[in-house]
Amino acid sequence: MAIKQAKVIAVTSVKGGTGKTTTVLALAGILSNKKIKTIIVDMDLHSGVIGASLNLKSNKDIYTLINDYMNHNLKEINDYISKYNDYIDVLPAPKDPRSVGKINSYYIDSLLKKLKYKYDVILIDTNHIIDDINLITFDNADNIIYIMTSDLMDLRNMKTMLAIYKDMNLNKYTLILNEVLNKHSLTPHEINAYLGRNIDYIIPSNYYIKNMKKLIMEGKIVTLEKNYQKDTILKEVIDNILKG
Ligand SMILES: Nc1ncnc2c1ncn2[C@@H]1O[C@H](COP(=O)(O)OP(=O)(O)OP(=O)(O)O)[C@@H](O)[C@H]1O
Ligand SMILES: [Mg+2]
Repeated sequence: MAIKQAKVIAVTSVKGGTGKTTTVLALAGILSNKKIKTIIVDMDLHSGVIGASLNLKSNKDIYTLINDYMNHNLKEINDYISKYNDYIDVLPAPKDPRSVGKINSYYIDSLLKKLKYKYDVILIDTNHIIDDINLITFDNADNIIYIMTSDLMDLRNMKTMLAIYKDMNLNKYTLILNEVLNKHSLTPHEINAYLGRNIDYIIPSNYYIKNMKKLIMEGKIVTLEKNYQKDTILKEVIDNILKG
């Protein structure tokens, strides 16, 4: 009999500041509303903000876990994980960025494989850099969500990325255009023509969250707030990924 394993969803981009972390948090809230046991892993190792955004106080982070693992001192994985609510656990990025260079991607691979047996969904925030850590993360992902803007440099990098995926015969990714942070006024039609592939979803500009700063200061997740539960685009994204 097959053992049920978590769906692994990595949220990434080809340029910084496109809305990845905001999307990860919103998705976690949607999964929590559905009572789906989720862990957010903050793999933006140098500058991850998930722990801070959720006001988590624990000293434990991905480095303390990997360091103990590398030194054969790994205790119960739960000892390193922070709980946000009944359905959302968090493994924060290292508090001290100087420790990042000591994290070996072999252990990241092994850690993700262990977590797959403990959760329904592993939601991974990443940075936009293609390094060993991200490649291992993508390898483990059932779906890679690209959050993109219509910034021209963003589109150029995205086009290159799509060519690589085509070369490798990979199609386990989802393209989301985030119009909330759009700087240029290219239409989705123009973007599709430029990329030679259709965008899968658009987060429209009216999804701008006015009280974002307040939510972050209070450690709140927008999709767990009463007024915002109608985030229909991301609900559709998650439903389709869970189905696939
Ligand atoms: N829907 C939104 N409404 C209001 N502000 C938003 C929204 N989405 C993102 N932002 C703001 O835009 C900025 C960039 O978003 P975010 O941090 O999610 O991007 P990122 O891709 O994770 O960035 P980085 O590459 O630096 O990790 C943040 O200040 C965030 O609060
Ligand atoms: Mg981020």
